[in-house]
Amino acid sequence: MAAFDPDKEIPRHIAIIMDGNGRWAKERDLPRREGHHAGAESVEIALETCGEIGVDYLTLYAFSSENWKRPEAEVKALMGLLAHFLKEKTPSLIENNIRLQVIGQIDKLPKSNQKSLQKSIEATDGNNGLTLVVALSYGSREEILEATRSLMEKAQSREMDPAELNVESFAAHLNTADFPDPDLLIRTSGEYRISNFLLWQISYAEIFITKTFWPDFRRQNLLDAVGEYQQRQRRFGGV
Ligand code: IPE
Ligand code: IPE
Ligand code: MG
Repeated sequence: MAAFDPDKEIPRHIAIIMDGNGRWAKERDLPRREGHHAGAESVEIALETCGEIGVDYLTLYAFSSENWKRPEAEVKALMGLLAHFLKEKTPSLIENNIRLQVIGQIDKLPKSNQKSLQKSIEATDGNNGLTLVVALSYGSREEILEATRSLMEKAQSREMDPAELNVESFAAHLNTADFPDPDLLIRTSGEYRISNFLLWQISYAEIFITKTFWPDFRRQNLLDAVGEYQQRQRRFGGV
């Protein structure tokens, strides 16, 4: 594994599929929610580390559109954790110049979560350091469908000519319109799949998969991922 080098290129945007909380808990004979709880610490560390090395965007997959099918108690625990995180951490987001943004079908979240998200987004709106993008009730297929629907409506009302549709104008209709594409995609817990995350946006992302469960993912794990990224040769289809 190549060591992280602060003088080499730093990925501008890192996206993380934070997986393995349940298995982390199971290994310790704890309820799954304890795994999610422990994972919150890893979120803080990832934020700190990204700030330290100069990453501009960190996108965290916190809850997928498919995660709604989990037992009600687990969904409730996750929403409670989100509420707790926003309440406890918003002051430190402000203090550390971090701007909070969200992607996903936010209107499907409990009203109280929607409100606290709105508040934290507004409170951090003027920050110009790291942008933290949290994916909540997020599914990439749903996002692509929504974009397509909105484009079709624009075509129907003649607001847009279908001939003008290109990669840029399509991307401008996604939830991620304001963010650059991820350079580095990390998935923890050793699963080799994307699970409906940023399908369009990761077209040319470098992928790093580690067996480490999310609650065990620490500063050095992130530096190792960036170190590996720095060894990669991105060709974007060229030579
Ligand atoms: C990731 O951990 C957190 C969410 C999907 C919300 P999991 O809960 O998926 O943990 P495993 O995959 O069951 O170990
Ligand atoms: C992906 O993890 C979603 C998040 C990390 C929020 P899952 O645990 O839901 O993915 P699958 O079910 O293993 O593909
Ligand atoms: Mg999982």
